[in-house]
Amino acid sequence: MINPHRDPSWTCPPAPAEIRDFHRSLPGYSPTRLVELPELAARTGVGRLFAKDESSRLGLPAFKALGASWAIHRALRDVTGGPVTIVTATDGNHGRAVAHFARRFGQRAEIYVPDGVHPAAIQAIRDEGAAVIHVPGPYDAAVEAAAGARRGLLIQDTAWDGYEETPARIVDGYSTLFAEIDEQLPVPADMVLVPAGVGSLLQAALAHYRSRPDPAATRVVSVEPSVAACVSASVAAGRPVTVATGPTRMAGLNCGTVSSLAWPYIHRGLDLCLTVTDAEVSGAARALAAHGVDAGPCGAAPLAALNLLAPAGATVVLLVTEGTAANPAG
Ligand SMILES: Cc1ncc(COP(=O)(O)O)c(C=O)c1O
Repeated sequence: MINPHRDPSWTCPPAPAEIRDFHRSLPGYSPTRLVELPELAARTGVGRLFAKDESSRLGLPAFKALGASWAIHRALRDVTGGPVTIVTATDGNHGRAVAHFARRFGQRAEIYVPDGVHPAAIQAIRDEGAAVIHVPGPYDAAVEAAAGARRGLLIQDTAWDGYEETPARIVDGYSTLFAEIDEQLPVPADMVLVPAGVGSLLQAALAHYRSRPDPAATRVVSVEPSVAACVSASVAAGRPVTVATGPTRMAGLNCGTVSSLAWPYIHRGLDLCLTVTDAEVSGAARALAAHGVDAGPCGAAPLAALNLLAPAGATVVLLVTEGTAANPAG
């Protein structure tokens, strides 16, 4: 669906430059690879096709480490006194990243998980030394439970009225991914496809491309599971709406409510929203695997969406946001 409220003159400020330096200072940091996929480009009819491969990012199998590391670092700077417990809700990857960086920074973590998170993803959070609390129900219920715990330091990757500082930092943390793409791409991108759950990564993409001198040069496209399409429903309604969600293998995208901070970016800055099914994503994951890119279900969603769109001749970037170690694709 084309966003009827898109304003091509809309601009916004870029993320603070200090974040790139922070990530560079972390042990184990190196830019993830940008892989060109000429055969898939030919098959889909696009000009040049690239995949940003987040299957190994700061020792974790998803991009989420970029946001969690920066937000925890900044939050701990404001804390005085002894150790704290870091709390969050997750559909898998964010919680694992929070647990990992809580441990790296010498703190405890308590992670709330809804129904439908893969047992291997839950075990991976436990393996980081965090306590896991299961909240029966959908992702939104887990977020409510974590926010209601009021026990420790909440590091949530979605915003709502009155809870904005930390989610804004998480979005800022994702800016490193786009800065790397700029350095790696041999030609400017005409289109970027972004998997969307609550829309925080999408917000980071929009902040990046819409803060440039030519803010409409790169079309930004959101990709959601057809059973959890809160960005699409909100764009159609012209205001944020919450949707009921159903089961999907794209666990990281299984969210019913758009982040309140992301909404203004989406409303004016997003070009297109697309939805994909589990079956389409399985096919896309197999195609990526055949070309040496290890993609979990969320990571394969952009290629599945590209098959619906196939912008002839364009230079396209797919954000492959997770590997199969984050979330098995099959
Ligand atoms: C692998 C993966 N891709 C994409 C997303 C979407 O990010 P956001 O919820 O910020 O839209 C997530 C969120 O958990 C994820 O885990």
